[in-house]
Amino acid sequence: MVYIERIPTYIPGFDALIEGGLPEGSLTLLSGTPGSGKSIFCAQMLYNNAKNGKRCLYLDLEQEIGDIELQMRMFGWETRELENLRIFSIDSSNPQIVEKVIAEIEDRHYDLIVLDSLDSITTNPGSVEEIQQQFRERVPSISIPNLLDQATLARLKIKKIFSAIKKSKATALATSERVEGGVGVSRDTVSEFLCDGVVIFTSTAMGKKRARSIEISKMRHTNTPGGRYDLEIAGRGLVVL
Ligand SMILES: Nc1ncnc2c1ncn2[C@@H]1O[C@H](COP(=O)(O)OP(=O)(O)OP(=O)(O)O)[C@@H](O)[C@H]1O
Ligand SMILES: [Mg+2]
Repeated sequence: MVYIERIPTYIPGFDALIEGGLPEGSLTLLSGTPGSGKSIFCAQMLYNNAKNGKRCLYLDLEQEIGDIELQMRMFGWETRELENLRIFSIDSSNPQIVEKVIAEIEDRHYDLIVLDSLDSITTNPGSVEEIQQQFRERVPSISIPNLLDQATLARLKIKKIFSAIKKSKATALATSERVEGGVGVSRDTVSEFLCDGVVIFTSTAMGKKRARSIEISKMRHTNTPGGRYDLEIAGRGLVVL
């Protein structure tokens, strides 16, 4: 029998659905509508793994949207005394975002990496310029301005970052906003094919309440049940019911 090391998410009710945790070294896409719990999922998994001695990196590329450390403190997850947890923000308008993300991934050996969110990378026009520049340098005879469309460039950026993560051997989570009724699972429509796992989050209004759910749409090397599970955000974080 082949034994696969697994990294627990520490989300009560979730690990039991995935044979105890995410396969070590796997890359999982968390895709969902806004406010569906993707960032809290990442923070909960990271905090608890850091507490258990894993070296963890949270790359917050949406700092202008929500302060992840503040959110963590609200659940009682004190990050300051955890030396092996690094939370680092990169301004999503930074034209060097791809290079900065890769530099962080390669800086130290991490066991667990969070990239929140991929959309900040794919929608950043600056690094599109960057990649076009690289093409110009390699093939100076070609005039390129629109040789590659935005979608192709976004995919190239994602591939570059994913290959840096794979090379680092870390287990990783990446988030993406899912557009209701849109094509594909992620905004870039390619991450779902490149990732080893895809978890879909939904959040819908139910009268005066919000109903959240989670669905494992794929997870390589893991026997997962089908169907949607209710997801609750409680005082101590996420719970899958
Ligand atoms: N302490 C809490 N108790 C209950 N619900 C909370 C608490 N803190 C946050 N929430 C809920 O969690 C939601 C945010 O979850 P999260 O930030 O993980 O979503 P997200 O999927 O990352 O959203 P986005 O796409 O906007 O980044 C908030 O909209 C809020 O309703
Ligand atoms: Mg978020």
